[in-house]
Amino acid sequence: MAEARKPLISGNWKMHHNHFEALQTVQKLSYLLDSEDHDAVDVSVHPPFTDLRTVQTAIETDRMEIILGAQHCHWEEKGAFTGEVAPPMLAKLNVAYVIVGHSERRELFGETDDQVNRKVKAVLAQAMTPILCVGETLEEREAGRTEDKVAGQVRAGLAGVSAEAVAGMVVAYEPIWAIGTGRTASAADAQAVCALVRSTVGELAGAEAAGAVRAQYGGSVKPANAAELMAEADIDGALVGGASLDPEDFAAIVRYRRAS
Ligand code: 13P
Repeated sequence: MAEARKPLISGNWKMHHNHFEALQTVQKLSYLLDSEDHDAVDVSVHPPFTDLRTVQTAIETDRMEIILGAQHCHWEEKGAFTGEVAPPMLAKLNVAYVIVGHSERRELFGETDDQVNRKVKAVLAQAMTPILCVGETLEEREAGRTEDKVAGQVRAGLAGVSAEAVAGMVVAYEPIWAIGTGRTASAADAQAVCALVRSTVGELAGAEAAGAVRAQYGGSVKPANAAELMAEADIDGALVGGASLDPEDFAAIVRYRRAS
C-alpha cells in the first residue's frame, strides 16, 4: 500500500518573503530540482497570500512542476469577513493544496476544531486538497495525551467528509513542541503518531481511505533529518517551515533519497 502513496513535501513559508523574494525563491527552487525529483516527490510551496499571483504566474509561465499551495482560508465562499480570503479565490489562482488548522492558527488566532472542519469541507468543495494539521503540545505529550489529542483532531477535522474525499487528503502531524524549536520528534515517535493518524482515518473512512491518505511530518525538518523521517512506513512527506525559505535547503530535503 505504501508504494501507492507519492510523497508530498511542502514548504510553508508562513509570514516570510514579499512577492519579489517569493519569485526569486520559487525560481531558484525550480532550477535546483529536476524531473527525476518531481517524478519521485510532489513538491508544493505555500507563500503568503500577497505572493500567490506572482508565484502562480512564474510556475505557469516557466512550466515549473512545483505545485502552488496556500496557508489558510475562510470557510465561506464570500461575504462580509474583512481581511479573510475565500476558497474560490484560491481555486481561481490554481492553488492545489491549502493548509488547514495549522497549530499557529489554532493557538495564536483561536481556530477551533469546528472551524477547521468547515474549512476542510470548503477547500474540498473547490476541488482543492486540504492539508489538515494536527499535533500535541509539550504538556500534552508529557501527560501521555498525544494519542487522544491527535486522534481527536483527526476525527473532528474529518467529521462528515466522504471516504473518497478523505482518501485524497493530506494530514500533517506537527508536534507543537517541535515547530521552529530545532527539536524534531524522533523518527520512531513521528512514525508512531502517523500510524495513529492512519488508523484513525481507517476507523472513520475505512481501510481504502486509510491506505490512500498521505501523512506528513512537520517540525524542524532539515536536510540532515529528512531521509530518516521519510524512511518510516507511515510518513509520506514533510511540512517544512524554516528550512523551506532557503531553496538550497528545501531542495536538499526534496532530494532526501539522494542523501548519503
Ligand atoms: P519548522 O520547520 O520551522 O519547525 O516549522 C514547521 C511547520 O510549522 C510547518 O508548517
